[in-house]
Amino acid sequence: MKTEILKKLKMAGTYVSGQALCEEFGVSRTAVWKAVRQLQDEGHAIEAVRNRGYLYQENGGDIYTKAGIQSLLHTKVTAQNLAFYEETDSTNNQARRLAEEGAPDGTLVVAVQQTAGKGRRGRGWTTSGEDGVWMSLLLRPSFPTEAASMLTLIAAMAVQRGISQMTGLDCKIKWPNDLVVDGKKICGILTEMSTESDYIRYVVVGIGINVGVREFPEELRDKATSIYLCQKETVGRAPLAAAVMDAWENYYNIFQKTLDLQNLREEYNRELVNTGKAVKVLTPGDEYIGIARGIDPWGKLLVETEDGRIREVMSGEVSVRGVYGYV
Ligand code: BTN
Repeated sequence: MKTEILKKLKMAGTYVSGQALCEEFGVSRTAVWKAVRQLQDEGHAIEAVRNRGYLYQENGGDIYTKAGIQSLLHTKVTAQNLAFYEETDSTNNQARRLAEEGAPDGTLVVAVQQTAGKGRRGRGWTTSGEDGVWMSLLLRPSFPTEAASMLTLIAAMAVQRGISQMTGLDCKIKWPNDLVVDGKKICGILTEMSTESDYIRYVVVGIGINVGVREFPEELRDKATSIYLCQKETVGRAPLAAAVMDAWENYYNIFQKTLDLQNLREEYNRELVNTGKAVKVLTPGDEYIGIARGIDPWGKLLVETEDGRIREVMSGEVSVRGVYGYV
C-alpha cells in the first residue's frame, strides 16, 4: 500500500486528502498516516497539511527547516535541542558559542549558509548557499580526552549510513575524516574540542555534506563531488540530516558502552575505502607507504609496510593518501 500511496501522490501533483486515500485503499486514517510517515522516513518529500491532506513535492521538496528536521528524528538526546540558522559564519563556531552559553549535550547547530565555513588544518570550507548539509553537533562527554578522536570515526559511520540510506550511492569512509563516492570527497568532518586540565569541556563535531552542488571550482573538480553530481538527482536536506543524526545516536550509544570501537570496528572496516589499498602516510617527520588493514579498537589505522610490520597510525597530524590519488 505504501508504494501505491506514493504513486498516487506523485501522479496527483496536488494535495490528496487523507480521506480520499482511506477510501481508495480501504484502510484507516492511521494506517495512511503511518504509511506516509514511513515514506517520509525513507526520504520522500511529502508534506502533510491539516485539512488539506498530503502533497508530494517535486525536486525532493527540499524544505529545510528546524521543524522539518525535528519531525523526522527518532533520537532521544541527539538534536533534540536544535539551533537552525539561515546564515552563520561557521556552524562549528556557532556551536562553540552556544556551548559557552551552556547549551546542552546533543545540541545540533544547522545553517543553510555559512559565510566562513572551516575545513581542517586551518583551511576554509567553501559552501555556496543551499548546496549542502552544514551542521555541528555539540557533545559534553565525561570520558577522557584520549577517547575523543574516536568521535570523528563514529560521525563518519553515521554519515556513511545516512547517505547510503537516502541514496543508492556506494558511499565509503576515508579514514579518518572524509566520506567518498567514486573516489571523490562528498563529506568532510571537522572535530574541535575544548579541554581544561585533563577533562573535556565539550566537543564539536562539524559535518559538511555536499548535496546539491552542481559544479566545484577548477582546483577541486577531480577531488570533490556531491550527491547531485553522483546521481543527477538531489535529496532532501532535512531527511538527510535527520538520518545522519539517527545513525549517530545509535553508534554513539554502542561506543559509550565500552568507550572504544570494539563493537563498531567490523562495520567500520567494511565501509572503509582504504582497506586493502596502498596508502601513503605523511607524518610531520616521516613518510612511508603500506597497505591499509583497517582500524584497531581505538580507531588507529593499521598499515602493513613492505617488511610485514604493522604500523599504527593515529589521526591528528597525519595525512593518509592513496598512492595513486586522493583515495
Ligand atoms: C574538512 O574536510 O576539511 C572538514 C570540513 C568540515 C566542514 C563542516 S561544514 C559544517 C561545519 N562547520 C564548519 O565550519 N566546518 C564544518
